[in-house]
Amino acid sequence: MESAKVHHMTPEQPAFMAKVPNNKALMLDEKLLFEQSTKGRMGVDLPALKGTKSRTGLAERAKVGLPEVSEPQVVRHFVRLSQKNYSIDGGLFPLGSCTMKHNPRLNEKMARLPGFARIHPMQPDSTVQGALALMHDLSHWLTTLTGLPGITLTPAAGTHGELTGMMVIRKAHEAAGKPRKIVLVPDSAHGTNPATAVTCGYTTYPIPTNEKGHVDMAAFTKAVDELGEDIAAFMLTNPSTCGLFEPDIKNIADKLHSIGAWFYCDGANFNAIVGKVRPGDLGVDVMQFNLHKTFSTPHGGGGPGCGPVVVSQKLIPYLPVPRVEKKGNTYSVVTKDATSIGRIKGFNGQFGMMVRALTYMLSHGADGLQKVAEDAVINANYILAHLKDTYHVPFKSTCMHECLLTDKRQKETGVTTMDIAKSLIEHGYHPMTVYFPLVVQGAMLIEPTETETKETLDEFIATMKKIAWDAANGNADALHANPVSAPARRLDEVRAARQPVLRWQTA
Ligand SMILES: Cc1ncc(COP(=O)(O)O)c(C=O)c1O
Repeated sequence: MESAKVHHMTPEQPAFMAKVPNNKALMLDEKLLFEQSTKGRMGVDLPALKGTKSRTGLAERAKVGLPEVSEPQVVRHFVRLSQKNYSIDGGLFPLGSCTMKHNPRLNEKMARLPGFARIHPMQPDSTVQGALALMHDLSHWLTTLTGLPGITLTPAAGTHGELTGMMVIRKAHEAAGKPRKIVLVPDSAHGTNPATAVTCGYTTYPIPTNEKGHVDMAAFTKAVDELGEDIAAFMLTNPSTCGLFEPDIKNIADKLHSIGAWFYCDGANFNAIVGKVRPGDLGVDVMQFNLHKTFSTPHGGGGPGCGPVVVSQKLIPYLPVPRVEKKGNTYSVVTKDATSIGRIKGFNGQFGMMVRALTYMLSHGADGLQKVAEDAVINANYILAHLKDTYHVPFKSTCMHECLLTDKRQKETGVTTMDIAKSLIEHGYHPMTVYFPLVVQGAMLIEPTETETKETLDEFIATMKKIAWDAANGNADALHANPVSAPARRLDEVRAARQPVLRWQTA
């Protein structure tokens, strides 16, 4: 009987879920709560609990009632749900800026080794020498690749790394007895940059992007000359969110240093230049890594991830604790340092991510990492070269790891970036990043990463051309309606964010 019901369920709502009553029942009922807690679900009296207050969770269970289902039903329900998700393991994930990189299975194997997976952060240093050695080795790789000698591994994501880096900068200005007020941020920046600066108590000052997609040097120079020693730092992403390498980066660094400001580089796009350029040689003082974007750890949606920060020599005293030190052949965790900004996370950070990142580095070797950067750039340029006659390209140079297109041509027939993205879903792809960077109208930012084959890129290019062909040949209505066969069609994203329905409602 049960399986017959399951057979007739709608794709969205399995039959057994219909047994879950209206979510008004989630309201706390203290009396019922008490009865349930003292009686137990099997009707057994539990006198020892009499008079104790039950927890909210029990009340919810009592009133909602758990559905009676078999194990295969539960398994099938969750497997079905998981199949509705699109993942990098299922197909190309061309999100620009957010870099969905393949997670090698070898990383997972290493992270699960009992010697790594089963240790506890409170174990004495002498019992975790292997883990500390791994952190030390990872630090060595990251400082060597960037030419920046100080490092912390503790931040939990790129954004957390940004915050840590800017706290280090703030502390350095305070230590010099000259707290400052302003952080320069390009108008093409990822939203986390201005958010970080403001969280650190700074006012942000926007620097415009020029017609080539680079920092407008005239505006930058004017800002530095006018605001002078009020400027604490410039937060610049390089390669930029327009997918371009900043040609004036050394001049920018020199100008900032001339007024005692620090140069913060958002290293989210480091994948494009690993082993090719060292940010330290360009004059960068602080840079965060997004290990998931460059070193293939799983994308943690802000955590549990890992966003190490590297700094130039003068900023080392302000780095957070704890940090790993090596004396002779022994590793130890330093937890106190008078000049440090202190702790920014529990224990030593996300150790499992560190294992994965180092595994990735060691399995590629230094020359292999260089090849990764080259392939990431070649793949993005391959897409750009094949789509530049079909879609409008706002900046006419070759790109780095991601290419930027717009909907300018398709808009002539009423088809927008949103329609193109939704049509990609209909064709079985996750869309590219849309409407970012904000400085480009109708932006479509495409990042294929280095692991995609030519065949995959060709299929994607053909799909993008087909969508453009539909737009130009009277099929605009079909594009406006897409996606028609996805589990969810066009969502009211504002309402979904403001009034989320977190569970099934039956009434
Ligand atoms: C340029 C840039 N900076 C910072 C971030 C934030 O990184 P995370 O997602 O690790 O917090 C991103 C994330 O997509 C990014 O693209």
